[in-house]
Amino acid sequence: MKLLGLHKLKTAVFISGTGSNLENLIKFSLQKKTPIQIKLIISDNKSAKGLFFSKKYKIQKKIYRFVNKRNDEKMIIEKLKKNNINLICLAGFMKILSKNFIKSFKGKILNIHPSLLPKYKGLNTHLRVIRNKEKFSGCTVHFVTSKLDSGKIVLQKKVKISKKDTPTSLAKRILVQEHLLYPKAIKKLFNNL
Ligand code: GRF
Repeated sequence: MKLLGLHKLKTAVFISGTGSNLENLIKFSLQKKTPIQIKLIISDNKSAKGLFFSKKYKIQKKIYRFVNKRNDEKMIIEKLKKNNINLICLAGFMKILSKNFIKSFKGKILNIHPSLLPKYKGLNTHLRVIRNKEKFSGCTVHFVTSKLDSGKIVLQKKVKISKKDTPTSLAKRILVQEHLLYPKAIKKLFNNL
């Protein structure tokens, strides 16, 4: 690992809900040879369960409601720049970031999506894969570009769908893989820096 001599990536995690990926990334950031340091948790939802992890792990949180998207994004950019953030991890973040925002952090925004992209972009992936009688689904870590769920893929993990699967049971199994995949993808990128 090329970590020696290189600073850790100052990371902000964006969430909207439960935040299991957030907690998983926090745990990853606490490992001995981790490449990331989580400086900020950003949420568009003041009731997001995941905000609890801000308190638990003593990480600064900030809520932007996105009522005025342009304004909020401007304030987020300022906040991120002020904290020298050089990696943004979207983890269940439900707002679509503008082209301008993405341009400000070009090549530094990652997302995790619960499907085998480029298949099943967007919402309700588990329901759609089951309805379509797919044999496999999975999860993907990819760069964020202005086209939804379409940026370059960093890593992907396949998960077999069983006949008994419901969207809930499949989501649960895929989430286990998401928690393995996101840190692995970050390590991969860091080693290529
Ligand atoms: C995950 O399945 C992620 O892939 C998707 O939203 C879900 C978020 O879960 N984008 P959590 O909030 O990290 O528990």
